Amino acid sequence: MKKTMDWSKIGFGYIKTNTMITCLYSDGKWSELQSNTDDNISISALSASLHYGLQAFEGLKAYMGADGIVRLFRPDENAKRLQSSAGYLGMVAPDTELFIKAVEMAVRENIDFVPPFGSGATLYIRPLLLGVGPQIGLDPSKEFLFLVAVTPVGGYNDVSGATKVVIDRDHDRAAPHGTGCYKVGGNYAAAMMSGYRAKKDGYSSVLYLDPKEKRWIDECGTSNFFGIRGNSYITPHSSSILPSITNKSIMTIAESFGMDVQKRPVEITELDSFDEVGSCGTAVVISPIYQIDDPAEHRIYTYKNAGAAGTTSNKLYDALYKIQFGISPDTFGWINTL
Ligand code: PLP
Ligand code: COI
Repeated sequence: MKKTMDWSKIGFGYIKTNTMITCLYSDGKWSELQSNTDDNISISALSASLHYGLQAFEGLKAYMGADGIVRLFRPDENAKRLQSSAGYLGMVAPDTELFIKAVEMAVRENIDFVPPFGSGATLYIRPLLLGVGPQIGLDPSKEFLFLVAVTPVGGYNDVSGATKVVIDRDHDRAAPHGTGCYKVGGNYAAAMMSGYRAKKDGYSSVLYLDPKEKRWIDECGTSNFFGIRGNSYITPHSSSILPSITNKSIMTIAESFGMDVQKRPVEITELDSFDEVGSCGTAVVISPIYQIDDPAEHRIYTYKNAGAAGTTSNKLYDALYKIQFGISPDTFGWINTL
């Protein structure tokens, strides 16, 4: 696999790997983890995940270091977030130990698909929790399928370097006090066409505003938003933003650099005052933004270093990248090695 693949050409698609791991919750307990060569699943057509959106998922990556060691980045945080998403939907999630065991098993069984160091690609890991079992009433499921699928991926955006994003004032990805802070499919379904239209118009993503007042910045469709002003790292806080593990880690790194880190409501008027802006998440890593368009208000915000990352964004990216690939020591205790 590794020998024949041109890693520079893979984007964020799906390449079938050796196996997918599954585990079923019924009668109050989880089954043993199972390895499946087939990536099709068989569930009741009356499953609540299919009708009522009773599902939650996660996203993390395995990184091949220059030393040949494969590393996972903070999988315990993904386990906790899945538990939080599941809790909101009345679902049962695997505990952290089972979650990590399943993720590690999926990576081990597909170790040939972990792209080599320096290729710019990684192995994306997609844990998924589904409410299964036949039912028609609007009630929480009693049975759950947990699975972990993996696939090698390259960069998330079609272009590398800085991109532009657009504010879509006509659509929200989540309601105030709804599911925005949970990683559930419904948020992505709600934002699907808004994001698709933005991409067709040449943007990498939509930048959503808070759904209640349209006054504050929330986040992008696939990532959190940040701005840099002088020595400050500023990222929005609201009830409808997904708590990004990448962003949480960048905040820790920024603090370790002596930066002033602010997680607070960020009013749209502040966009004018940032030196650099970007988005961050597992899929997009740290993606610099050179322009934000607000068509409804006839506003265009531009940032210096158009086409490239600003100095501070670059410094943060470099520090994160080096920890993930084992180039820098794991001083924060974020890495699980396989
Ligand atoms: N916000 C949204 C809506 C996302 O889909 C993601 C991706 O997971 C993120 C933020 C970034 O979260 P993380 O850094 O944990 O991947
Ligand atoms: C991730 O970054 O892991 C995500 O889940 C984003 C996804 C929509 C591709």
